[in-house]
Amino acid sequence: MTVKSTNITRTEHRIDREVRWRESGHRGGVLWFTGLSGSGKTTLAFELERRLFEKNYRVYVLDGDNVRHGLNSDLGFSPQDREENIRRIGEVAALFADAGIIVISAFISPYRRDRDQARQAAPGMFHEIHMSANLDICEARDPKGLYKKARHGDIADFTGISAPYESPETPELVLDTGGLTIEESLGRLMDYVLHNFRTD
Ligand code: ADX
Repeated sequence: MTVKSTNITRTEHRIDREVRWRESGHRGGVLWFTGLSGSGKTTLAFELERRLFEKNYRVYVLDGDNVRHGLNSDLGFSPQDREENIRRIGEVAALFADAGIIVISAFISPYRRDRDQARQAAPGMFHEIHMSANLDICEARDPKGLYKKARHGDIADFTGISAPYESPETPELVLDTGGLTIEESLGRLMDYVLHNFRTD
């Protein structure tokens, strides 16, 4: 990306990433959950965080609704604002990963290009995980009542209704959260982490 500041110089850390990772007992990385509202991202993210924490993993969830109350409280849901939302989270997640933490990010992140940019921010550490429950299922669940509001025209730019969702083409993992139980999805996520975050 383009950098606005001039007269800035990078300084190298004196602790290698690998040393930090060894200290954590596992690699750092980004588990990038993407999918429609109601597809299970938040539920799975927080439960996976709890289970990994209990196994002594250093893990932290960045969740859309939470981050939009703080760091990204100045952003809405226009394509430009969503792009900036994902850009900031991609950069923050990459810093966490470098520091030896497993970040679980739970954002709709509807645009392929924005997710690819987040991947580029964390080279070799980015795992795109598609929660693939389809619109019919998410709308039937409607846990926050937002699809109903969107259908009535009370929410503009609502993903799946009046704004697009671009499915990942080559994600590292797909979870059919429309068909799998929460427990089954969590089992697959735990297996994925156990196999992909070893330091040896
Ligand atoms: S993203 O598209 O920019 O990645 P993000 O994950 O941060 O979205 O926020 C999505 C959450 O905001 C949804 O789970 C929902 O609770 C809420 N929300 C409010 N308005 C919208 C909207 N227009 N489209 C999608 N989600 C919305």
